[in-house]
Amino acid sequence: MVSEINSLGIFGIDAFMVKVESDISPGLPVFDVVGLPDVAVKESRNRVRSAINNSGFNFPVGKITINLAPADIRKEGAIYDLPILLSILISSGQIRSNVSSSAFLGELSLSGELCKINGVLPMAIEAKNKGIKNLYVPKENALEAAIVGGINVFGVDTVRDLYLHLTNEKLLTSTTSKQNISLDEDDDPLDFSQVRGQYRVKRALEIVAAGGHNILLIGPPGSGKSMLAKRLPSILPSMTREESIETTKIYSVLGKVSNNNCLIVKRPFRAPHHTVSPVGLSGGGSIPKPGEVTLAHNGVLFLDEFPEFTHASLEVLRQPIEDEVVTISRARGTVTYPCSIILVAAMNPCPCGYFGDEKRTCICSQRAVSNYLSKISGPLLDRIDMHVDVPAVSFYDLNSDDEEEKSEYIKQRVEKARKIQTERYKNQRFNCNAKITPEALHKICDLSCNAEKLLEKAFHKMDLSARAYDKILKISRTIADLDSSECVEVNHVAEALQYRSLDKKYWRHRE
Ligand SMILES: Nc1ncnc2c1ncn2[C@@H]1O[C@H](COP(=O)(O)OP(=O)(O)O)[C@@H](O)[C@H]1O
Ligand SMILES: [Mg+2]
Ligand SMILES: [Zn+2]
Repeated sequence: MVSEINSLGIFGIDAFMVKVESDISPGLPVFDVVGLPDVAVKESRNRVRSAINNSGFNFPVGKITINLAPADIRKEGAIYDLPILLSILISSGQIRSNVSSSAFLGELSLSGELCKINGVLPMAIEAKNKGIKNLYVPKENALEAAIVGGINVFGVDTVRDLYLHLTNEKLLTSTTSKQNISLDEDDDPLDFSQVRGQYRVKRALEIVAAGGHNILLIGPPGSGKSMLAKRLPSILPSMTREESIETTKIYSVLGKVSNNNCLIVKRPFRAPHHTVSPVGLSGGGSIPKPGEVTLAHNGVLFLDEFPEFTHASLEVLRQPIEDEVVTISRARGTVTYPCSIILVAAMNPCPCGYFGDEKRTCICSQRAVSNYLSKISGPLLDRIDMHVDVPAVSFYDLNSDDEEEKSEYIKQRVEKARKIQTERYKNQRFNCNAKITPEALHKICDLSCNAEKLLEKAFHKMDLSARAYDKILKISRTIADLDSSECVEVNHVAEALQYRSLDKKYWRHRE
């Protein structure tokens, strides 16, 4: 007899339906799995055999063939243990139950317990989209699956429990999502009020958050670059539910969500070390995995010690940052991972760290400084709108009793500016100022007469490139939005010009 069980598989961060068919026919005992299974799926045979015997059933004698359909996509991991076991028990008449509107996922231990698997969230989403009514998953994955809503999720402990449920002897209760419970509250949240002084940098980061711009922070060691960067997520707009689910899917596929932290509601902050490999940054590998840039999706990617990253690493980031997706081509198809991020890079101004510092003298030669700066020029720097100097914090600021502004107030201004952009760009392909396309730029960044005069003067005086000019327009637009101003005025442009520190530095060097 042939039986058919619904299951699912993962491709990239999305899922697809899989049918697990089993056929038991008389003959010499063989147990075959066909339909592009990987090694882990093949090993499933041993686990399923033991789990059947140890759960009080009989492993059927004869020729057993398992087919995983569709046959043209490789099936990975151990998630097919449970559907394979179930299809054998149904084929051999040991369980009688109609499971056509149910789907099953789970790895088995030899004794018949279900073990946690990866990628349950995208699979639950797909199951719901395909009209599956009941989804059976390992108990440890149940809350993660229940986030989706609109599908009955059953967390299963053992094969025996599932048997009792399917035969109506002892029903399992379905899991309901706890998504409204606040998740993973920090005891000590990072807040801008912890940073003393540095008003100019804080203001720059407010503009970053408001317009979705990328930024480079330049300053001596200990000036607070890392401290400031880590607090950027605290002023970014709250995540929408769609953003939360998108980001959680990525962590789900990597097995990085747990039952008590199953929906990511805080924007991610990723800070890979500069020794990270290009694949570690962008994603890839023989079995493709998302990289750091995708783990930062809807959040912040922080590249500290920016010039220390290898050329190859920075090169692989260029396209993903531009396109907001990473595309990985393999013989069996193309995987795409989302990566909509804000890039924050940080660096010292020179090899010794103190070029331009007020107190300590830089010991680097002019040439060493230029070489150091030239390491970061190139394609990725072109994707960074703002460069800002972070001077060492003064004793006066460190010692002051003044109350510093809390992140929640800055965030309110950011959200207001974002709302203006969402409204303005509702019919566009982009949603924030940083992503305005070159064709739309001049129409959207409508300069007042005086603003235009100032920009023209600066263009000649600072010897700006066309690219720098475009970026100043975008930053000015964001500053105007923070100011709730329809038109970009002269003060907005004047402020924007301050966030192009490297343009000025190059200019200084040439003199
Ligand atoms: N503006 C500031 N207000 C309060 N503490 C600061 C400030 N700047 C630096 N610090 C302190 O100095 C430490 C080092 O700062 P850090 O962010 O690591 O500097 P950088 O990354 O620029 O080398 C921080 O952990 C913090 O304790
Ligand atoms: Mg640092
Ligand atoms: Zn130096």
